[in-house]
Amino acid sequence: MATFREMCFTPAEFASLAKLDKSIVGELEEQGLLRVIKKKVGNVDRKMITLEDMQNYFRMVRDNAPAEFAHEMGDGAEAAGSQIPVEAVESVAAATATLFKRPRNKIQMFYNVKGGTGKSTLTAQYVMRASMMGLRVLAIDLDGQGHLTVNLDVLDAHERPTIYDVLINDLPIHQSVMNVAPGLDLIPANLGLCNIEIPLNNKPRREYRLQEALAKIADQYDLIVADTNPAASILNGSMLVAAGLVNVVCATNPLSFHGMSLVMTTIEELEREFRHTLQVRIVPNMYDNREVISQEVLGELRAQFMDFCTKTVVNRSADLNEATKRRTTVWDVSSKGAAAQDINSLAEELIFS
Ligand SMILES: Nc1ncnc2c1ncn2[C@@H]1O[C@H](COP(=O)(O)OP(=O)(O)O)[C@@H](O)[C@H]1O
Ligand SMILES: [Mg+2]
Repeated sequence: MATFREMCFTPAEFASLAKLDKSIVGELEEQGLLRVIKKKVGNVDRKMITLEDMQNYFRMVRDNAPAEFAHEMGDGAEAAGSQIPVEAVESVAAATATLFKRPRNKIQMFYNVKGGTGKSTLTAQYVMRASMMGLRVLAIDLDGQGHLTVNLDVLDAHERPTIYDVLINDLPIHQSVMNVAPGLDLIPANLGLCNIEIPLNNKPRREYRLQEALAKIADQYDLIVADTNPAASILNGSMLVAAGLVNVVCATNPLSFHGMSLVMTTIEELEREFRHTLQVRIVPNMYDNREVISQEVLGELRAQFMDFCTKTVVNRSADLNEATKRRTTVWDVSSKGAAAQDINSLAEELIFS
């Protein structure tokens, strides 16, 4: 059991994340492209790759991407100064085009006006998985319940500034940011954030304040992801104004499906009011293929919102609950489990396509 910050990966786990054959890990180590340490597990020394070293590998791959991938990438990609022979990177990562890409939408949010659909759980797993890929990630907790904050193992948020202080008391946004793991920062939340609606309502340019604050730190990150509160609140509205992609988490049960029309209407109204076009994805969650009702709801969801649904369906899994309990990534619970694979494919789909 390890906190996310302390996580280490076996060569096999690294290879599966890097989409490589396990046999190549030794070669990468010899070429100085990957650092491998020895770690005592029980009585034996085992080869392990720390979270930070894995992130460094992915950054190196991305910074040395072959020219044909340049069009996939955003600003700064060309600037990569390369001491590493491009052929080495090309040969080891030829089949792994996604690893070269940069996020399509830098600012994203997980959203639903309904509670209990899995927003905070998926946001936490998603930001940890994104940072495993070497992306520099900022997570933002916009729910006073602070579940994203707790899921990322921050237990002293009541003593910390939140986005409330930034939007209402003009605290410089960088002072609200804390580090939770290599490559992963967080603006935490606490109960005080539940009181933001009235003071925010009275502020000038209220829906633009969050966007303007984020603009000040955005260039420090590859990906910024917010978890939101289950309401059609002004705070959520300001995140919708700031975001390029909204991931609507829909549990595959009848009430969650029923709420979807309201969610989609709310988003459309905001787009019209603020003349801001958002990409919308619907993420089916807690799917259980043994339940007829789950199958029916997924079918209806796809029939009604075909263009929006992600290909990835997140299955109901005890591993996700266990990861929540341990306040770490589902990879720590079972790296080969179905839940880890669901989070993998969700992350790849929402980050790169
Ligand atoms: N795919 C899943 N499989 C099993 N349990 C899940 C799954 N997604 C979420 N949960 C559980 O459902 C509960 C509600 O999830 P949460 O993320 O807090 O929802 P929200 O943030 O939308 O209110 C939590 O106990 C969480 O562990
Ligand atoms: Mg939540």
